[in-house]
Amino acid sequence: MDKKALEALLQDMSLEEKVMQLVQIPGSEYEADAEITGVTRGQADDKVKRLAGSTLGVWGSKRLKKIQQQYIKEHPHHIPLMFMLDVIHGHKTVFPCPLGQGATFDPEGVKKGAEVQAREASADGVHATFSPMADLCRDARWGRIMESTGEDKFLNSRMAVAMVEGYQGDDLKSPEHVAACVKHFAAYGAGEGGRDYNNTELSEHTLREHYLRAYCEAIKKNPAMVMTSFNTINGIPATGNTFLMKKILREEFGFKGVLISDWAAVGEMINHGFAEDQKDAALKAMMAGVDIDMTSGCYSGYLEELVKSGEISEKMLDEAVLRVLNMKNDLGLFDDPFRGIDPEVGAAVTEESRKHARKVVAESLVLLENKNKALPLNKSDSEKIAFIGPFANTKRLQSSWAFSGEDENTVTVFEAASEIYESGNIKFAEGCTMMDQDSVTARGICHVDNWQEKNEKLLSEAVEAAKWADTIVLCLGEDSTQSGEATSKASLKLPEVQLRLLSEMSKTGKRIVTLIFTGRPLELADVAKLSDAILVCWLPGTEGGNGVMDVLSGMTSPSGRLPVSFPYTVGQEPLHYDMYSTGRPKPASGPSEYTSRYLDCENGALYPFGYGLSYTNFEYSEASLSKEKMTSDETLTASVKVRNIGDMKGDVIVQLYLRDITGSRVRPVRELAGFERVSLNPGEEKEISFAIKEEMLRFWTAEEKWESEPGKFNVWVCDSSVDGTPLEFCLE
Ligand code: GLC
Repeated sequence: MDKKALEALLQDMSLEEKVMQLVQIPGSEYEADAEITGVTRGQADDKVKRLAGSTLGVWGSKRLKKIQQQYIKEHPHHIPLMFMLDVIHGHKTVFPCPLGQGATFDPEGVKKGAEVQAREASADGVHATFSPMADLCRDARWGRIMESTGEDKFLNSRMAVAMVEGYQGDDLKSPEHVAACVKHFAAYGAGEGGRDYNNTELSEHTLREHYLRAYCEAIKKNPAMVMTSFNTINGIPATGNTFLMKKILREEFGFKGVLISDWAAVGEMINHGFAEDQKDAALKAMMAGVDIDMTSGCYSGYLEELVKSGEISEKMLDEAVLRVLNMKNDLGLFDDPFRGIDPEVGAAVTEESRKHARKVVAESLVLLENKNKALPLNKSDSEKIAFIGPFANTKRLQSSWAFSGEDENTVTVFEAASEIYESGNIKFAEGCTMMDQDSVTARGICHVDNWQEKNEKLLSEAVEAAKWADTIVLCLGEDSTQSGEATSKASLKLPEVQLRLLSEMSKTGKRIVTLIFTGRPLELADVAKLSDAILVCWLPGTEGGNGVMDVLSGMTSPSGRLPVSFPYTVGQEPLHYDMYSTGRPKPASGPSEYTSRYLDCENGALYPFGYGLSYTNFEYSEASLSKEKMTSDETLTASVKVRNIGDMKGDVIVQLYLRDITGSRVRPVRELAGFERVSLNPGEEKEISFAIKEEMLRFWTAEEKWESEPGKFNVWVCDSSVDGTPLEFCLE
């Protein structure tokens, strides 16, 4: 439909119809078994069901075609319903959780994964996904760190851009693609105490220089939607925050798409103490520019009254409705409300999608320890391997947000091992329950009957298997229901029952390769003392077992790097590598009295951002700069040679870090400014170069401008955020 026709449609719509285009209701209004991702507020009345502009949480080509047929028939202007769903790391083929995808440092691979996810979601009738989550996350206590790509604004920017491009492609009308939604705008990851939904206190400097960067880069790729966040920013809820939504999002970032609230966030401004009642909440959200009210009922209940009273102008209403109609038009829904879906053929996992997911899994795994080359596993036929632990043979390898994927599609670690090793050479033992008794999860309390007896039995079976084996692959971690929304934790330790299993395994004296499945950084210092190797596997999804075994067996060398710092203790959180020096930086060695330090812990991470081991070794040499001075219109090149000095092929993530040594505001001690995944055969050497341009040196200055400032800069081209020797150049 062309622009004129859309505007003519808008003019022909009744006030009631217009208001309802801004209303999103839960999918359960149309299908009983829809996924509900928030607190529901009772049943929508028939008028709302008949006229609501969009719904969320339902999928399936046959079901959605039936709903759409009925809906269009009854709608006065036959405007199609929009279907939205959280496909944040997989629909049928579930990829590693986003934190694991961040660990790949492979935006191209992540983009291709988003294309697979979009194709599958669209085949099941979905029009829009609520992804990428571009929130900066520096606090492992926050369970939604699992849904992010980590603590670095540059890495998050590259990943969020890759996801928007993968989901949307070049033509939103294509049934291969879906609309993307950049969320949660803004700074949702900065909640005080790492507690979900909590207030964030951020200076404009910190907001702009760190927290807004990834949203801004992703919005440059024209995502169809942006979603408001639940938190207040400096006391004002994002969903009613005109500075954030009008000045920054619309004016500065130039966002012209649809702004949708998060689940019930409009109405929750009452709980925040920012809105008097639902009518006031509707007013404040509209004044902030929120186009769609997700499930709160405030718009459907009060927007028409607010327009009739003149508190909301019809012009403002029309602008919001036109953005929603434009989105439906961009998706091609007016030409074909079914976007080419075949009700008889929905989405399914394919060999091709599995192949790519398996590759992303392998790239996401981060090897933290490998004492005496415990890995890769010994290939000899006589090697006896015991796969032990609650993650060793479970199909629950995806996150709590992969609810449209089916567990039975998942390949477990032990199933994958059975494809590689003779059955007589491997054994499985569950070892212990996943969690301690009566652990609290996103799904409620986890209670196991006869928990004590069950664990005694599981442990004795595990000890038997361990005594039989030469090597123990111990599969531990945090249950997938303990990360994601509303899962903040004050402890980052593994469950007691798992630590006990590790301790008992250690007493057998066998080699222990510990795999950690998790949606967040955990405290691993004690695990490292008792393990010969540690491999972080995140929540790897459908091809989890195969990807893990590809690395354990040595078919491919691990190449993942930490997208987030792993602390010595939770007491260090929030923890991030790009910290400020302070006036009394703790020296790397020697006395540290009267410096910025803990008496009882290091300042930095146990395992830092950008860190990860390989089965081979890489030697960096001849780091150099093309010149020592540059003007703002010049480019400077930083280079380094990297050689594979080991006996296995491997990928290395070469990283570029910068430091602005003196500024009108203090600057981080290091900031990631580039990275490149490089494949090297044994003995092979390559020179890696990064262009440094003036715009990479800009920051939010004391004059409240986004500018670079002349002066000295340090440059590292190295292997992690704590590696390398700095070079220096001067911006004139
Ligand atoms: C949830 C989440 C958001 C999600 C939305 C729809 O509360 O905060 O990330 O996309 O509701 O499910």
